[in-house]
Parts: sequence; structure tokens; C-alpha cells
Amino acid sequence: MLGECKDAALSQEGKRRIEWADASMPVLASIRTKWEKEKPLKGLRISACLHVTTETANLMRTLKAGGAEVALCASNPLSTQDAVAAALNVVYQIPTYAIRGENEEVYYSHINRALDIKPQITMDDGADLVNTLHTKRAELIPGVLGGTEETTTGVIRLKAMEKQKVLQYPIIAVNDALTKHMFDNRYGTGQSTLDGILRATNFLIAGTTFVVAGYGWCGKGLAMRARGAGANVIVTEIDPLKGLEAVMDGFQVMDMDRAARLGDIFVTVTGNINVIDERHFKVMKDGAIVCNSGHFDVEINKTALAKMSKDKIQARENVDEYILEDGRRIRLLAEGRLVNLAAAEGHPAVVMDMSFANQALSVEYIFKNSEKLEKKVYPVPEAIDQEIARLKLASMNVKLETLTPEQVKYLASYDMGT
Ligand code: ADE
Repeated sequence: MLGECKDAALSQEGKRRIEWADASMPVLASIRTKWEKEKPLKGLRISACLHVTTETANLMRTLKAGGAEVALCASNPLSTQDAVAAALNVVYQIPTYAIRGENEEVYYSHINRALDIKPQITMDDGADLVNTLHTKRAELIPGVLGGTEETTTGVIRLKAMEKQKVLQYPIIAVNDALTKHMFDNRYGTGQSTLDGILRATNFLIAGTTFVVAGYGWCGKGLAMRARGAGANVIVTEIDPLKGLEAVMDGFQVMDMDRAARLGDIFVTVTGNINVIDERHFKVMKDGAIVCNSGHFDVEINKTALAKMSKDKIQARENVDEYILEDGRRIRLLAEGRLVNLAAAEGHPAVVMDMSFANQALSVEYIFKNSEKLEKKVYPVPEAIDQEIARLKLASMNVKLETLTPEQVKYLASYDMGT
């Protein structure tokens, strides 16, 4: 065993699942095929901290095919697919440190094990790896060329580090690529969050009042899909433009104090802390479902919920029922962690294909260009974003129009008016 996983005997099941996902990841597969011949990452050491899923496994295979030495650890204690971790260690010979349900101590020990390879590139989802490297393993920093970040929350943290001048190496914000957030955040979170709620509760969504906190790309996707399933959707927002957009998209927009009284199902996707708090639990309906699809388990104040409750029972897998003093039950899913990854399997492979193609090509870009990069957060180069969109469309057999010479001329002109 190279790394640490729950049960190596799960490796063949993991392999089958990884191959199933791979069939929906043609862009990543085309990069892997090319890299198998060209080995553009030869000898490059990469420490990755990502959700250990079938899709991530295919990214790790691609990096290895490119010649990199890779070590992987989990970016969340509840999102690991144990069979995938087993297959990575046993079948694909990629050291992977991840056990679903690991406690905080084991979680950070796994991050440290992934860092032990002395990475030249870090690949992160939420910035826990970068944070550990900067605060506890700073001796490794001189060897790092750069890093990539997968998610909105991580990019926010890294931009704060850049602003406070503590960021010690360049990072590419994969999340900000259009071929990432327009598809993964919107359609991926939208569908997989509903999937997590359904698997946890087996409830009917139709006819419920469904409250979405946050109208970023993830919130937009979720509100759209909840409406599609027949829910009456309420959106809460702090940003006037996003609030206005939600109104014009046809949703009810209000503050959480009011929404708390009306909702049957609540989902937080804000990236902020205590979005659902004690005062909200006080007025919720009996049986309200509360869950989170933001990166960290801070959006729902579960400490306050526990304090207000006289009892807690595990009603089903991934459902804790908190019984308040007055007898009302509040049902918290997946301990307030990412419900789409903890109670379901995260975003489907077809969107992760583009996100992880961005990861792979961004690593190659950093390796080739590290001398030009400063200690800043950079966008994914536009050429990479465009190329991924082109490859994805080609994989779907979709042909675009091309401009005629006359149209090219027209677009470049200013004197052809009425
Ligand atoms: N983040 C959201 N969904 C994911 C998935 N399927 N794999 C890895 N990271 C994810």
C-alpha cells in the first residue's frame, strides 16, 4: 500500500467506477493520450488536495501519464469515495491518503503526508493544502513553482493572502475559468445538490418551499434545478445585482429572517459563515431540512443548533434530527458539510471533465512559465479556456459557424451604418 485508505480490497470496484466516469471525460482523456507520448510533466512533483472521487482519479491518472510524480489527499473528510482511494493506491499506483469520515487530526496528517513529496506544484480545493504549507511546512516553499485552486472559496482565501502579501508563490484560479464555473458550479452543483438531498431523505421536491441562500453560479444552478423539480424557490442574497438577477429570473427574493418561517428545505451556497443561525432555527417549521453545498461546514450554525436542542437522533444515513425544546425537529443533512459530495457523488463527470482539463493544462502552463509568474493569483490563460470549450464541443459532435470574410470585415469596421 502506497498511501492510506479504508480497505484495499475495494480497489477493483473503484477501478470499475473510475472507468465509468472516464467514459464521460473525453477532453481529459484526449490530454492523457497526448501526454502519454509527450511526457510534458516529466519528473514534476505534484501534491494534490481534492475530493477523492472517480473524476479526481482520472485527473491523477492524466498527471501521472504526463510524467509527474503525484500524491493525493482528501480536501474534505466526508467526500472521499473509499473504493476510489483503494484503486488509486493499488491499481494506479498513485499514493492517496484519504478515508471517508476521517477526523480532523487524520485529515491534516493526510495533508502532511501528501506534502512529504516536496511538491513543485500544489493543486488545491479550498486552500487547506496551501494554508498548511504556508503555516506549518514553510521549509518547502522555496521548492514550489506554483499552484492551482479549484473552488470559489479557495480563490477568495488566496486572493486575501495575496492582498495581505503573505502568498509565497503564484496560483492559477481554475475556478475562474469560464469552462469551469459556468458549467461545474452551475449545472454540477445544481444537479448534485438535489441528488444529495434526494439520496439522504427520499423526499419529493415538488410542492415544497425551497430556500437557496446565495445566488452565485452554484446558487443559480440550484435554484434553476429546484424549480425544475417543482419547488417554489426563494432566494436570499446580500448583493444588489445578484438579488435583482434572481428577481428577474422569476424567484422570490427576501431576507433569511422571513424565508426561515416559510421554507421546507434550506440550502446554503454562500461561502460565508452562520448564514443560517440560531434566530432562524427558532422560527423554522417542524421537520425543516437544512443543508449546505458551500465548501466549508460553517454556513449553518450547527453549534447553536446543538445547544438549542434537547436531543439528537440519526434518522437516516446523512440525516441528523435535532429535537428543540418545544418539540420541533430540524433535520440537518451530512453534518452541514457539502451535501452533494457527502450524501451523493459530487458533480457528474461530464462537467468535471472541463474543470479538470483546466487543472491539467494549468499545471503544464505553470511548469513552462514559472519564471515569468509572480506571487499572485492569476486567471487561467484565455487560450486554455477557449481550447477546452472547442474540445468539449468536438466531443459532442457540435459544429460551430465560422465567420465569412465579409463578416470579419464588417466586425472590424465602423462606417457601415443605416
Ligand atoms: N467537486 C464537486 N464535484 C466533484 C467531483 N465529482 N470530483 C471532484 N471534485 C468535485
